[in-house]
Amino acid sequence: MALAHEPTTAATVQKHQMLIDGQMVDSATGETITIESPSTREIFATVPRGNGEDVNRAVAAASKALPAWSKVAPRDRGKILLKIADALEAEIENLAKIIAQETGNAIRTQARPEATLVADVFRYFGGLGSELKGETIPLGENVLSYTRREPLGVVGAIIPWNAPVMLGALKIAPALCAGNTLVMKAAEDAPLGIMRVAEICQQFLPAGIVNVLTGTGAECGGPLSEHPEIRKLSFTGSTAVGKLIMKAAADRIVPVSLELGGKSPSIVYPDANEDWAIDGMINAMRFTRQSQSCTAGSRLFLHDSIFDSFLEELAAKLDAIKIGDPLSEEIDMGAIINNKQFTKVCGYVEDGLNQDDTQLICGGLPPESGPLSKGYFAVPTIFANTSNDWRLAREEIFGPVLVAIRWKDEDEAIRMANDSHYGLAAYVWTRDIARGINAAHNIEAGWVQVNQGLGQVPGHSYGGVKQSGIGREFSLEGMLDSFTQRKNVTINLATPPAPLT
Ligand code: NAI
Ligand code: MG
Repeated sequence: MALAHEPTTAATVQKHQMLIDGQMVDSATGETITIESPSTREIFATVPRGNGEDVNRAVAAASKALPAWSKVAPRDRGKILLKIADALEAEIENLAKIIAQETGNAIRTQARPEATLVADVFRYFGGLGSELKGETIPLGENVLSYTRREPLGVVGAIIPWNAPVMLGALKIAPALCAGNTLVMKAAEDAPLGIMRVAEICQQFLPAGIVNVLTGTGAECGGPLSEHPEIRKLSFTGSTAVGKLIMKAAADRIVPVSLELGGKSPSIVYPDANEDWAIDGMINAMRFTRQSQSCTAGSRLFLHDSIFDSFLEELAAKLDAIKIGDPLSEEIDMGAIINNKQFTKVCGYVEDGLNQDDTQLICGGLPPESGPLSKGYFAVPTIFANTSNDWRLAREEIFGPVLVAIRWKDEDEAIRMANDSHYGLAAYVWTRDIARGINAAHNIEAGWVQVNQGLGQVPGHSYGGVKQSGIGREFSLEGMLDSFTQRKNVTINLATPPAPLT
């Protein structure tokens, strides 16, 4: 299929800046990159095209701000995060619109819930200041030995575009609560929402504590990951770039948190061939985010006895999903982020259509005419009778393309579920809870949900195993593990007392 999509330019193009050292600024070169609306293919904004020089300025500002910030009492840092949470709450509607426009994610089902969660994330971490506790080690009466939780220093964070504001908040809030300062690079496709969050943070913070840059991965993300003063790298995005980040970290022995891709299994038992499970599965596959989610349950393992009926019902429900303008309250599902991803998703669909033994249950290639052809709109698609070895069943598609695989034997279902280099999320559907728990324990994934397909909630220790990543964020434990280091202090109390004068 020829997909020649030329973006056009909106009547007015908003010019945005980035946050360095408390100021909204242009890039050092003055160059910009354009931001396109996925639902119209219109260029509607520009952001600075940051490079190594901008990274240097931002890291210098964060280093300068670090000593004072790290010495603010943790609960007082938390109080600032709570004020930011209040300000973000007042901004939910505006943020939701920005997110919908720049990501193409539908406002009612995705963008507004994301904006709401962002305020919640700041509120959650704002309450955790006094949990940055250490331990005392019982070495005997003559020794005082204790650990302190200290910040790591300047954190370098890089975020993607699929839930950009939530994923950005998830790095800013715990990093700051723990006393770090931060330089974050926004995704080039969706920088505007997180930049608005940064601006709001700045209203309550001294300069330099939060810096958010815009620019490309190679020109801005690369120098950030290699900067010698960065003491921690936290990355969310593709496994391929995650590997580059880890290599850059290895050169300087810098700790990393990586939240990477997934190809998450969803196992349906015969007793779950019911509406609640089908609705849950639609959520788990994140169809209303065009399945652009690392936790999408994109491999559907259906028991042989319910294979056809489950799919028939699922296809009927998917048919009712309203696709279109992300800013309309009527719409359930918006557009794919950009031409590159859209073309990639279409390539997988074509591959599926060209397989003789594979059955298309619903969907297919996107319409080439009509209102949906104006943007990067893909349609919910299911391929059945696929083998677990096939490209569509192994690679992260990051689009609304679900593969359905048959199973008869439970051990075989678990084996196939685990036969993936990814291990982020998983879903199990059964009324037999013992069975569900057993499956949950046997699946190699960082997060298994039984009988629901919901999103992350602050408090989960969220993250993956295998090539889905390293480290956990989103929780108290995640903050302690990912954004602090322990220092031990040991004092000998047996030294002879000095005479009192
Ligand atoms: P990406 O991994 O290239 O982009 C994520 C972030 O990394 C962006 O901010 C980007 O500018 C930055 N980046 C890219 N190259 C870099 C480099 N050399 N050094 C430092 N930073 C760099 O992801 P992309 O290209 O947008 O999407 C490709 C695929 O990645 C998707 O199809 C999907 O499979 C996966 N992905 C997974 C995500 C997740 O949530 N785990 C999010 C986004 C994409
Ligand atoms: Mg875009």
